[in-house]
Amino acid sequence: KTAPMIDPFGRHVSYLRVSVTDRCDFRCVYCMSEHMTFLPKKDLLTLEELDRLCSAFVSKGVRKLRITGGEPLVRKNIMWLFRALSRHLDAGDLEELTLTTNGSQLAKFATELYDCGVRRINVSLDTLSPDKFKAITRWGDLETVLKGITAAERAGIKIKINAVALKGVNDEEIDDLMRFAHGRGADLTLIETMPMGDIEGDRTDQYLPLSLVRAQLMDRWTMHDIPYKTGGPARYVAVEETGGRLGFITPMTHNFCESCNRVRLTCTGTLYMCLGQDDAADLRAPLRASDDNDVLSAAIDEAIARKPKGHDFIIDRRTKRPAVSRHMSVTGG
Ligand code: GTP
Ligand code: 5AD
Ligand code: SF4
Repeated sequence: KTAPMIDPFGRHVSYLRVSVTDRCDFRCVYCMSEHMTFLPKKDLLTLEELDRLCSAFVSKGVRKLRITGGEPLVRKNIMWLFRALSRHLDAGDLEELTLTTNGSQLAKFATELYDCGVRRINVSLDTLSPDKFKAITRWGDLETVLKGITAAERAGIKIKINAVALKGVNDEEIDDLMRFAHGRGADLTLIETMPMGDIEGDRTDQYLPLSLVRAQLMDRWTMHDIPYKTGGPARYVAVEETGGRLGFITPMTHNFCESCNRVRLTCTGTLYMCLGQDDAADLRAPLRASDDNDVLSAAIDEAIARKPKGHDFIIDRRTKRPAVSRHMSVTGG
């Protein structure tokens, strides 16, 4: 076993997010532009290579692995990777193997995911109105996603619903989303929209600070701060009336970088040390250079030593373009 990964600010990296494809069967308005250019398939790491990379991180102290996209379940033969990675759960080297999904393929994969040791997943769902759902996702169908959620629950998987808070879109619907989630024993987390990559329209029009949402919710609900921790950036409250948990992910209004424990790998083997920065390290070359993991391990150490202190989510006042030029779908959030 190699030494754990500690960055220059003393933060222990124990959470790896792995984007297995930049493609998606939806086109959420805050995430992608309508016409996206995706990576040619030949540039993707193979599933075997992704397994080797993830396993190298596990041997360096990663305890939580989250598979993301784009939409991870549209990657061909993706269950092979879940199956392969589940050996680290069996060996006790990994605490959690999970994914963030738009839910469109869940009905098909729920049972297999459970069989691979997946116990708790995050499903993106910003609205319960079929028309709004279509407007937000452009290509998605609400009914399919709801069926996917039910299938996952039946398979024994706990659900967390992720909703991006969007001004004038779902701000009137937060109570309903909470009743929906808590009514079925799921957590709900609200997310501030982050400016990443070019999209149609002006992001500042959509932006809704969660400090405002929280203040408004407090008029109607009794909420208590709780120390519940998942390893992710959300801060949770317990809602007395529903008995459920509500999380707030506030990259814009309340920076949580001081407790950051994660890095992100893309499907081409690029490692982003921060979601809100463009600096990245190439792990594909060291991965392919040798079957021996020493070269790879050294490249990972070199990257961790460059992990920045925090994110800069800003929109240039003049050009109106976000400082982070890649889309969220490159790293899956
Ligand atoms: P849990 O295991 O349930 O805590 O999951 P998570 O919050 O780590 O993962 P999820 O994929 O559900 O991410 C929810 C949102 O948090 C996404 O919009 C991510 O982009 C965002 N997020 C996660 N980590 C970071 C981070 O380090 N910085 C920023 N700015 N956002 C993050
Ligand atoms: N800002 C905040 N969250 C985003 N997501 C996608 N794009 C953005 C953005 N620009 C969310 C998705 C998903 C999670 C991985 O990130 O809705 O729940
Ligand atoms: Fe696809 Fe998720 Fe982006 Fe929506 S937010 S387009 S579901 S990757």
